[in-house]
Amino acid sequence: MQGISNLKWEIIMVSRRSFIGAGSAFLAAAGRAGSGGNGRKEAAIQGFDERDAGRISKVPWKPFSDRKVRVGIAGEGVCSFGSAFAYQTHPNVEVVAVADLDPAKCRLLQERTKAPKTYPSCEELIKNAAADGIEALYIATDAPSHARLAVMALEHGLHVASAVPAFFGRDQLELVPKIVEAAKKSGRLYMMNETTAFRPEGVAMRRLFEAGAVGRHVYTEGEYFHYWGAQGIPSWNGWRRGLPPQYYPTHSNGFYTCATHGSFTEVSCIGITSDLPDFKDADNPYKNPFGNEVAFFRTSDGGAARMAVMWDSPGYHGETGRINGTKGSYGTYTPVYNGREKELVQKLDIAKPALPPGVDAGGHGGSHAYLTDDFIRGIIIPGHKVCCDIKTSLDTTIAGVYAHLSALKGGETLKIPQI
Ligand SMILES: NC(=O)c1ccc[n+]([C@@H]2O[C@H](COP(=O)([O-])OP(=O)(O)OC[C@H]3O[C@@H](n4cnc5c(N)ncnc54)[C@H](O)[C@@H]3O)[C@@H](O)[C@H]2O)c1
Repeated sequence: MQGISNLKWEIIMVSRRSFIGAGSAFLAAAGRAGSGGNGRKEAAIQGFDERDAGRISKVPWKPFSDRKVRVGIAGEGVCSFGSAFAYQTHPNVEVVAVADLDPAKCRLLQERTKAPKTYPSCEELIKNAAADGIEALYIATDAPSHARLAVMALEHGLHVASAVPAFFGRDQLELVPKIVEAAKKSGRLYMMNETTAFRPEGVAMRRLFEAGAVGRHVYTEGEYFHYWGAQGIPSWNGWRRGLPPQYYPTHSNGFYTCATHGSFTEVSCIGITSDLPDFKDADNPYKNPFGNEVAFFRTSDGGAARMAVMWDSPGYHGETGRINGTKGSYGTYTPVYNGREKELVQKLDIAKPALPPGVDAGGHGGSHAYLTDDFIRGIIIPGHKVCCDIKTSLDTTIAGVYAHLSALKGGETLKIPQI
């Protein structure tokens, strides 16, 4: 009987959140930004339509400092991510300068953030940061440029928040120790803006895990399903064309790493070939034949995880996950709890704290502004530990890169380097 009522709930919740015109969805980020230079008519971006931030605490936001962190922002691409994270409205931030290689995008980012200064590239912004008194950089450029720009910014003494992933693919594995070293040497904060960390269920999973309600971790599942269709998804310099799914692993892996702060130690991954034009015959810059990749991981706490990233399966889509432990389970579409776990859920306050007045939580489950707030608190408040810190950022990303390598070797089990 309980199974039947569960099923009903699942159908209701899935239909509410996940059957919203998956295929075309990504494009229209730039609905706000016109066609984004890709010449396509744009509708709605997957993830940006998910503006339900979950339960927000009734306790009003309390100011924690008079200080304003002087921030630079780079990148206002297809997703308009530079302006989508509420830096311009956060009371402890002053957006000093913005940059984009595309002058029209740069102007747009300036307009949206009201930054007094612009630079033609992120590199120029970083070089001039000291003169401008910029302390922190938010990197919202194309995925392949994140790691290089993060290292450069850390070496210039800037705190860094990077859009996902932290680094990009096998060819950038050598940048991993460089990010670690640059952060260590500079003593500056590095974090990755993993949106699952501040989705309502991501916040709840972490709180329940930290409070012991889940018990010892047994198994986590995560999915990032995003159908690309025949047209593919636009991107600067075409970095999304033929993208190995597990080179973009953070929205699935994050359900484990951002809840437990554990890591993945071994992987065996199945890659499924795709006939979509971006992937057919591996005719793409990555020589990648796979449109879907399903990874099985051993986790550092002795548990297991199954993380799926799929570009070629229309219909149900989104970023979803759930955690199982020795005491209970929780996650997306888990409306019914069991016994002791139910009591704990009721006792624990799993509401998100209120944001400052006038700050909109944003998309991806109302996660955007919470990531920004976490970053700014990490800079201002001594001892504040950001959720997706440098270790979790790199653990979350590197596991996917090894998953793709495993898929290329027919699912061979590979050990994953630990940060
Ligand atoms: N849920 C999420 O967390 C989520 C969702 C969407 C996108 N993203 C990430 O956000 C980032 C941006 O996504 P997008 O689709 O807008 O990317 P995009 O490829 O469309 O645009 C990248 C932009 O960066 C600019 N750029 C590139 N190199 C630069 C440099 N050196 N200096 C200044 N500007 C530079 C380009 O001109 C372009 O406007 C990506 O890294 C993506 O992975 C994350």
